[in-house]
Amino acid sequence: MSEIYRFGVSLEKSLIEAFDRHIQSRHYHNRSEALRDLIREELVRKKWTEGGAVAGAVIMTYDHHKRELVNRLLDIQHDFQETIIATSHVHLDHDHCLEVIAVKGNAADVEQLSLKLKALVGVKHLSLSISSAE
Ligand code: NI
Repeated sequence: MSEIYRFGVSLEKSLIEAFDRHIQSRHYHNRSEALRDLIREELVRKKWTEGGAVAGAVIMTYDHHKRELVNRLLDIQHDFQETIIATSHVHLDHDHCLEVIAVKGNAADVEQLSLKLKALVGVKHLSLSISSAE
């Protein structure tokens, strides 16, 4: 584990009270844990906007009966073979599939992959979850 650094933070009373309610609702054990996560999230967001290295997953559901959807899906995935590190496919029911695509690479490439998949006709839902790759 890396070295722990302690620092003091000055906040308005109303702000720290609101923060305490927030961290309680999120089941954090203390302010440090909550603040740590907030800082990490902000740094990932910064990386996202500046195009740094990210890792994450695209989670999507689709109707595999939609004409050409599966072919288009495969074409796009092959175009992004340097970004996609693993794919997991689940047949949900007669019509629907769930696909989890693990990604690692440049934030802009990950975003492009996600946008191209989302635009396909027959995709019911797509969400992208990212974290820092470092
Ligand atoms: Ni399937």
